[in-house]
Amino acid sequence: MKVLAISGSPRRGGNTDILLELALEVLAEEGMETEFLSLADRPIKPCTACGGCRHSEKVECVLDDPAFEGMIERFVEADGILVGSPVYFGSATPQTMALLDRVGYVARANGNLLRHKVGAAVAVARRAGHNFTFAQLHYFFLLSEMIVPGSTYWNVGIGREKGEVRDDAEGLETIRNLAKNMAWLLKKLKD
Ligand SMILES: Cc1cc2nc3c(=O)[nH]c(=O)nc-3n(C[C@H](O)[C@H](O)[C@H](O)COP(=O)(O)O)c2cc1C
Repeated sequence: MKVLAISGSPRRGGNTDILLELALEVLAEEGMETEFLSLADRPIKPCTACGGCRHSEKVECVLDDPAFEGMIERFVEADGILVGSPVYFGSATPQTMALLDRVGYVARANGNLLRHKVGAAVAVARRAGHNFTFAQLHYFFLLSEMIVPGSTYWNVGIGREKGEVRDDAEGLETIRNLAKNMAWLLKKLKD
């Protein structure tokens, strides 16, 4: 079973990447195949509401955008999808939402391709806005008929400068438990 982790931080090696990599370590220990994908070096364009995905014969986003190549296939192949975003002005980053809007719309145009996949969100902030961002990412999962595991706290981390999230012991523990619960759920859903 495969879990795809997507970091919507423009900062490579930052706090979001650290939490997602921790989750993937635990998921790998649980026997999952894992893939980490950073959007930092992928300037994905936002959805233009052209409706091309609804009219195309193919499962595709028709925007000319090399940075988006392979994204739909990655989501479709994965059994579990972990989305992490820093909090920017109380919300997920534009990088995160550009990807989710486009993949989500293509998925819905083709019979809800993400149905019954397991989804989990991680939000990182210096001080506040975690819960809104956490909820924001869940709107995507729930509208996509995805199934969401919980943890021992909401999946949030605290930190400002790169690496500061490593000092958030409860945040790290929450992410470890999330990953264990995600693996448990994926194994239960295997059949
Ligand atoms: C444009 C911008 C907006 C931000 N807005 C918030 C915010 O609303 N609340 C907060 O607590 N931190 C905010 N931060 C701080 C980041 O969420 C924090 O530095 C986080 O650790 C960055 O994650 P990263 O290391 O994965 O990039 C903001 C940072 C930037 C650059």
